[in-house]
Amino acid sequence: MIEVRVPLPGDRSYPVVVGRGCVDRLADGLAAELPRAKRAAVVTQAGVGVAVDPGIEHRVFEVPDGEAAKALSTIEDLCRGFASWGLTRGDVVVGVGGGVVTDVAGFAAASYHRGVPVVHVATTLLAQVDAAIGGKTGVNLPEGKNLVGAFWQPSLVLCDTATLDTLPEREMRCGLGEVAKYHFLGGPDGDGVALDDLDFDARVARCVEIKAEVVAADEREAGRRAVLNYGHTLGHAIETTGRYDLRHGEAVAVGLVYAAELGLALGRIDGDRVAEHRRVVAGYGLPGRLPDGADPDGLMAVMARDKKALDGLTFALDGPAGVEVVAGVDADVVRSTLEAVR
Ligand code: GLY
Repeated sequence: MIEVRVPLPGDRSYPVVVGRGCVDRLADGLAAELPRAKRAAVVTQAGVGVAVDPGIEHRVFEVPDGEAAKALSTIEDLCRGFASWGLTRGDVVVGVGGGVVTDVAGFAAASYHRGVPVVHVATTLLAQVDAAIGGKTGVNLPEGKNLVGAFWQPSLVLCDTATLDTLPEREMRCGLGEVAKYHFLGGPDGDGVALDDLDFDARVARCVEIKAEVVAADEREAGRRAVLNYGHTLGHAIETTGRYDLRHGEAVAVGLVYAAELGLALGRIDGDRVAEHRRVVAGYGLPGRLPDGADPDGLMAVMARDKKALDGLTFALDGPAGVEVVAGVDADVVRSTLEAVR
């Protein structure tokens, strides 16, 4: 097992445990991190199929399968369920699942009684390297995704990599796009080993460590945390504009190659670094080109209204000082660079 700490001010730092079978550490982890908790509300989806033993009195609250669960009505249902059971602020919510579960369990925990501790058991690669780490929680509105939510850090995260054995291939690809992203956000680990050379569990743990460093530096996304959006500006635009048969991680992969090409066009990186992006993305079996029929006008329109954009077209871009957020990128360059990923 590998333990990574997310270092936060005050007493809010928390451990993330990565390894096969670490779900069995839930009871001990709860006893160590939240010794006062007497009850655990386990929030999961039927499709997750991972049983947990919190070691204290618990009740399972199932939310609907799929992204449909990310609705305010789910938060109301959960909180009403917690209230009728008698969950208190001294107890704990345990989210067991992928990013949808960590988002709704985290938001219900942040809201119920104005804040109950939450622990995540992350069962998808995407949740293990991204969604479960860093305290972003929230739900969608008909007007857009993740428009309502809260920053609510967990007290413990368990990333049981054995749960990935049965994860559908396409769900794996969702997470691999994020793993590819971390190749460009962090250098070698403390022993000087590059992400490429780590075995699977160590690679997941290193991704967590890179994310933890970014979150610790900018917990509420005042600036630097937006580098975690590397590859996502075009990625989100691809997801928003088309009915393409692309998973989130696949769209992010195209977005990573595009961001590298944009960095080259702006003179921030050289061709070797772009080739490295293409090699990493291809190495995970992910696409580096736009899907057939992608419409540049539509992509431009969505990128221009990216909710992270503060001043014109805004991208996380690689450069001599690593990945940084760059605002006010020239629209002509943004548009012409789309040709490099066609
Ligand atoms: N998923 C991006 C973040 O946690 O900031």
